[in-house]
Amino acid sequence: MKFNKLYFGADYYPEHWPEERFSEDAKLMKAAGFNVVRMAEFAWSKMEPREGQYEFDWLDRAINVLNEQDIQIVLGTPTASPPAWLMAKDPEMFMVKEDGTRLGYGNRREYCPNHSMYRVYTEKIVTKMVERYKDHPAVIGWQIDNEFGARCYCDTCRAKFQEWLQARFKNLDELNEKWGTVFWGHTFSDWLEIPIPLRLGSNPLDTSPNPGLALDYFRFMSDTYVNFQKVQIDIIRRNCPRHFITHNLMGFKYPYLNYFDLAEDLDFVSWDNYCRTQWTMEADVAPSIAALNHDAMRGLKRANFWVMEQQSGPGGWEMVSASTKPGEIRLWAYQAIARGANAIIFFRWRTCRFGTEEYWHGVLDHHGIPGRRYKEVSKMGAEINQIGEKINGSLVKSTVAILQSYDTRFAFQIQNVNPQFKYETHFHDIYKVFYEENILVDVISEKDDFSGYKLVVVPTMYVLTKETVENLEKFVQAGGYVVFTGLTGVKDLNNTVVNQKLPGLASNLSGVEVEEYVSIPLYDENEIQFLYQDLEESYPVQSWAEILEAKGSVSIATYTKDFFADRTAATINTFGKGRVVYLGTIGTYEYYKGVILWLAKLVNLHTAFKVPKGVEVTERWQGEKKIVFFLNFTDQNQLIELNGEFIDIINGCRVGEEISIAGRDLLILTLLNLEET
Ligand code: GLA
Ligand code: ZN
Repeated sequence: MKFNKLYFGADYYPEHWPEERFSEDAKLMKAAGFNVVRMAEFAWSKMEPREGQYEFDWLDRAINVLNEQDIQIVLGTPTASPPAWLMAKDPEMFMVKEDGTRLGYGNRREYCPNHSMYRVYTEKIVTKMVERYKDHPAVIGWQIDNEFGARCYCDTCRAKFQEWLQARFKNLDELNEKWGTVFWGHTFSDWLEIPIPLRLGSNPLDTSPNPGLALDYFRFMSDTYVNFQKVQIDIIRRNCPRHFITHNLMGFKYPYLNYFDLAEDLDFVSWDNYCRTQWTMEADVAPSIAALNHDAMRGLKRANFWVMEQQSGPGGWEMVSASTKPGEIRLWAYQAIARGANAIIFFRWRTCRFGTEEYWHGVLDHHGIPGRRYKEVSKMGAEINQIGEKINGSLVKSTVAILQSYDTRFAFQIQNVNPQFKYETHFHDIYKVFYEENILVDVISEKDDFSGYKLVVVPTMYVLTKETVENLEKFVQAGGYVVFTGLTGVKDLNNTVVNQKLPGLASNLSGVEVEEYVSIPLYDENEIQFLYQDLEESYPVQSWAEILEAKGSVSIATYTKDFFADRTAATINTFGKGRVVYLGTIGTYEYYKGVILWLAKLVNLHTAFKVPKGVEVTERWQGEKKIVFFLNFTDQNQLIELNGEFIDIINGCRVGEEISIAGRDLLILTLLNLEET
């Protein structure tokens, strides 16, 4: 989707404030350079205080006041937080958690997404909103619900799951066979007998479900939200053809929904970016983690995205997080833009004086008087108004892709394999190598087209399909490089272990077979020693070691300890015009760094600039024109050496061979055009 400008604004809750304040807010927003706000996503009970009694006048007035200041509106459908009168109608409308307990009223996202009455009321309120705002000149688009997620385990969902399974399997015989229900004699003779994977009690031995059943349940719950979202999308699309539709996702870190599926029906992806919350009191979200979140959200549709909620102050519900230091809010926001965001919307405009999120600080404090954070945001607003056009529409281009798979993530939620192994950490360890080297990557789906990339990294593709392998084979045949890490190809789509030597379907492409695998306990250790060309380092092995047999490939590393000392731990294979590295272990960041930097030389990966540690460099391209972002995440001045002549687009001046960036500050440069001198 193309936008005609960069959007900049805040999440606004006019329902929390007296109406006399609206125009003051709108003026302050305008002065801060805002051109958009999102609102109404938690205002169902304000819009429908009693069943069938709709009240939109207050919202009209808020929208109109903002419109007078040329601020456009994204409306949220309010289904994440239903009114008390609705939930009082049927206790079964409340979600049941995985331990079998049912939620009650008083938080949000407490509804069962499959409950038919909930859907009826959802359709009613969305239809009413759409009728009211479809032609409003200030409204530009919609956010569906708010941060979909959480699996429900109620009887309604169980019945729907049984229906979902009937569409997935030809008959019960097929289901029984594919899940292997003969184990423990769990064979089903009626669809109604099929349970859901509740985790009752505290003894894990009592609660570990059939892996095939559990994976299908997780897929089903993901489909449920895709479908619930679609119900709302259909109503809006029918009535508002000029409006865009999006949803605010939660980044790479959120593992319970198949975001590729959820993104498919949206015009573009939005997500909510918090780097410092009450839940991260011990350590901040590292810039590389925020970057991974951005890249993964861009990868869902391989397109630019919005940040629908960008941290604008200390976060907190019961506790207050560490403060956002001067410069950080702006830096985080520019990091998002540098990685493909086309909108920055700060959460929230003004800190609320009541309710669960009393300590979730916005641009303004509780008292509403502009302070330090307002100044910082306004500074950025002025910049965006000045440079927005130069950035709008530009795209991030990468030569490396890392594949992420929700089937694999779901399957690891069922069987973690080793207590030290965590998919998200493993993924980030690999991602961080590219991040630290300032090599841009796309985080994409195994189903995407890989042509155009030089290197595709496949972190533990635990659930592996024939289609994915064929897709990778095509890429390598044509000259691409692929890296696999251990625990790949273990499972088929039914979450049963493949009936061949590992890495299963990836065996032929990687020219390797796993003779035996070893799950490494916490009290044990091993080491991988590389001995190939100029790759000669050794690294610790964590959690998993596969003893490999090269079958046409070449051994490049061996283990140093235990009964498998000197056995092959990693290989390289030539396949068509390309090559495949298979790393039969899970290791540390340093390990991936060693291998990937070695490969980066082989495939001649483009690294943008040499910069001091703590400075992030990214590029967006507007056609042939490169825009380079230098983000200084340290609190010290940093010197950057440039290899060419550039213009600093924020300050509108030429910059020399060497330039310094203050701590928590940034630079945006374009190559000097002769006409611009
Ligand atoms: C999420 C939600 C917001 C708000 C913030 C802060 O991202 O979407 O409504 O709750 O977190 O807690
Ligand atoms: Zn349910």
